[in-house]
Amino acid sequence: MAINIKLDDLIYPYFVVDGSGIKEEIESFPGQFRFSIDRLIEDIGESVKLGIGRILLFGIPDRKDVLGAEAYKNGNLIAETVRKIKNRFPDLVVITDVCLCSYTTHGHCGIISDHRLKTIDHRPNIDTKKTVEVLAKIALTHAAAGADWVAPSAMAKGQVLAIRKALDACGYKDMKIMGYSAKFASNFYGPFRNAAASAPKFGDRRAYQLDCSNGKAALKEIADDIKEGADVVMVKPALSYLDVIKEARLRFSHPLAAYNVSGEYAMLKAYIKTIDHRPETRDREKNLVFEILTSIKRAGADTIITYHAKDVAGWLKE
Ligand code: PBG
Repeated sequence: MAINIKLDDLIYPYFVVDGSGIKEEIESFPGQFRFSIDRLIEDIGESVKLGIGRILLFGIPDRKDVLGAEAYKNGNLIAETVRKIKNRFPDLVVITDVCLCSYTTHGHCGIISDHRLKTIDHRPNIDTKKTVEVLAKIALTHAAAGADWVAPSAMAKGQVLAIRKALDACGYKDMKIMGYSAKFASNFYGPFRNAAASAPKFGDRRAYQLDCSNGKAALKEIADDIKEGADVVMVKPALSYLDVIKEARLRFSHPLAAYNVSGEYAMLKAYIKTIDHRPETRDREKNLVFEILTSIKRAGADTIITYHAKDVAGWLKE
């Protein structure tokens, strides 16, 4: 059966910063920008006009600290952004990333319990209990602002359950959770880390993200997230993990998302620019993007988070 990519299959990510009048292209991430809220609203207006129905928001605050307090303080950047977006575009499904890496000075996704003890291989000591408490607090501020789904991406054990409990207790029973369930410690996150200035300042994320050789662990993480109450589970990145997507599809009937990450996107952009010199850039890019998205959908993903979404929306309108 033919696989058609539809706009309803896609989620478009956006990066938001403090300030006003800002729309700056991100280093090594062609066609993707950091927006202040005012300029973001303009761009979302274009996306909505093109038919995009779901967006994923990442906050990049000016101020960071060791505890990531900017992520959950009253009137935090994402809460303000969500409020303004929902005010203007009530039907747009707004999904918020719930993590600490762009809010902490050390750039890790959790609360570090003891900075002296970085362990022999320089992996951080993440305090999982404290981390999930903080993630739940962040999710509540997004829910109160009117977000439709939250997407916890810290890979802290028990994060989905903690967030589900906190949301239910505060009356947000309808709010959905999309778990970044099977998130690999990947080399394909480079442009995103430029965007969010979220590269770890020491060590790496192997202490809490999955090893690329371990497909079994990925399936266990997905099963755990389903048990904890995730409405949607995710495999990330997509292209080097199509087998994991396929396996998850065969094993679980849950809604399944795949994240076509920044490095995958940037690789295609570089290929178009420097390697593939067939004429008609627009068609080349369009055909490559559709081939890639089709492969992810063929593997079994219902939903694809992709930086190509706005271009796809334009192409589908032609
Ligand atoms: C971290 C997070 C990352 C991405 C989304 N959330 C990167 C990381 O683990 O450093 C990457 C997405 C992309 O590369 O497009 N919470």
